[in-house]
Amino acid sequence: MPTINVLILAAGLGTRMKSDQAKVLHKLGSRPLIDHILRTALKLHPEKIFVVVGHQAEKVEEAARAAVDAAAAEKLSFVLQKEQRGTGHAVICAAEAMKQSRGSLLILYGDTPLVRLETLRKLIAEHERGKHAATFLTIRLSDPPAYGRIIRDPQGNFLKIIEERDCTSEQRRINELNPGFYCFDIPALFSALKKLEPANAQKEYYLTDVPEHMLAEGHSVMALYHENAEELDGINTRAELAEMWKRLRHETIDRLMESGVTIVDPDSTYIDDTVTIGRDTIIHPQVILEGDSRIGSNCQINSWSHLTNVEIGDECQVLNSCVMVNSKLTARNSIGPFAHLRMQTELAEEAVVGNFVEVKKSKLGRKTKSMHLTYLGDATIGDRVNIGAATVTCNYDGKQKHQTIIEDDVKIGSDTMLVAPVRVGRGAVSGAGSVIIEDVPPDTLVAGVPAKVKKKLKE
Ligand code: UD1
Ligand code: CA
Repeated sequence: MPTINVLILAAGLGTRMKSDQAKVLHKLGSRPLIDHILRTALKLHPEKIFVVVGHQAEKVEEAARAAVDAAAAEKLSFVLQKEQRGTGHAVICAAEAMKQSRGSLLILYGDTPLVRLETLRKLIAEHERGKHAATFLTIRLSDPPAYGRIIRDPQGNFLKIIEERDCTSEQRRINELNPGFYCFDIPALFSALKKLEPANAQKEYYLTDVPEHMLAEGHSVMALYHENAEELDGINTRAELAEMWKRLRHETIDRLMESGVTIVDPDSTYIDDTVTIGRDTIIHPQVILEGDSRIGSNCQINSWSHLTNVEIGDECQVLNSCVMVNSKLTARNSIGPFAHLRMQTELAEEAVVGNFVEVKKSKLGRKTKSMHLTYLGDATIGDRVNIGAATVTCNYDGKQKHQTIIEDDVKIGSDTMLVAPVRVGRGAVSGAGSVIIEDVPPDTLVAGVPAKVKKKLKE
């Protein structure tokens, strides 16, 4: 594999979004635009990925770091383009940071999230094969948007790219366009950048002028036609963003159905492209599945449930209207209707969480049940525990969060308050309405306010 470096331009505000937020932070599904292109670029195993940031630089940097795991984070480096004076200027700003880089440089725009890995591979392969100084993709569209036009001589040889605003009316009719995917030989690029001038309608330094300068220096430049224009679409407006999300969503849903997942109503189901789902799982209408979520086989996800970054084992039931974030169901669990599992909650096999139960940073053991109207926070709960209706772990004393530990085979009576830090020993039982403020010995019955040991139970 040849050495490849990647440069992503993401400093622009994106005026046509009419937003205070930098364009690459707008979300396609649940992930910002920059996240999509970064993940694809990483799959090329580049030596480094440089990201040019400007508008909301810190937030864009944060979003980019969130997109990659710790190992890949080392490959990322950021370059600040204080004033946005064009795509060529953005590359000039990055030149210093890239001066140690070897091999070829792939330049991508932060607002083209759907490009396929194979397409980038094809671009790089042609670049290496032809030993070109520049290789870039072109597309054809019958109703050309505001894209740069590809100008060729009568023999079909590439001459230059002209931005739409700088075109004559005749040039504007050209339907071969620049979608913005380039591969460059680094030394040739650096030398051509020196020739850029802002002599155009926008008074900007255009990256699109680089190929013409390279030709003038006698280098080989390849304008590589690419059939599938849709995957190279750039986002400029909110309408385009919504349209693209619809397309991506349907592609994802089609792929899932193809692999054996039942999606009852594809039109009302929202599934991120990063979600995986096992065979014979059924997804009911109006479900939202987001982020790095993994769902096993033979599960049911019922209507109006919204799951983000979840891990769900086989044969689990998520009943209507559940919210689940950064949490795990192991296998044969059931949650809901109306359950809220958030922040590192984990249910061991066959544990059940029912109506109007909120669980945060807690572990429930095997076959443990909490069926109604309950808050469990910062709790570690053993196997076969029954949590009565309206139980509350009082985990917050106004300053700090404290742990509740409930050992195996405990029965917590309805309306029990567990004032943390507190431990309930194995086999213990609390009477309805107990307020437990100190540890409960194993195999005892406690009751009252504050709860006292009423009797010793048989083991
Ligand atoms: C660009 C191309 C155009 C192409 C189109 C495809 C140029 C001059 N034109 O135009 O030929 O058809 O993309 O989508 O390159 N950016 C910076 N710094 C800047 C300016 C832009 O980082 O100073 C970034 C933006 O954040 C964005 C990307 O570069 O991610 C493209 O910029 P944009 O303004 O959208 O370029 P287009 O006008 O669409
Ligand atoms: Ca654009």
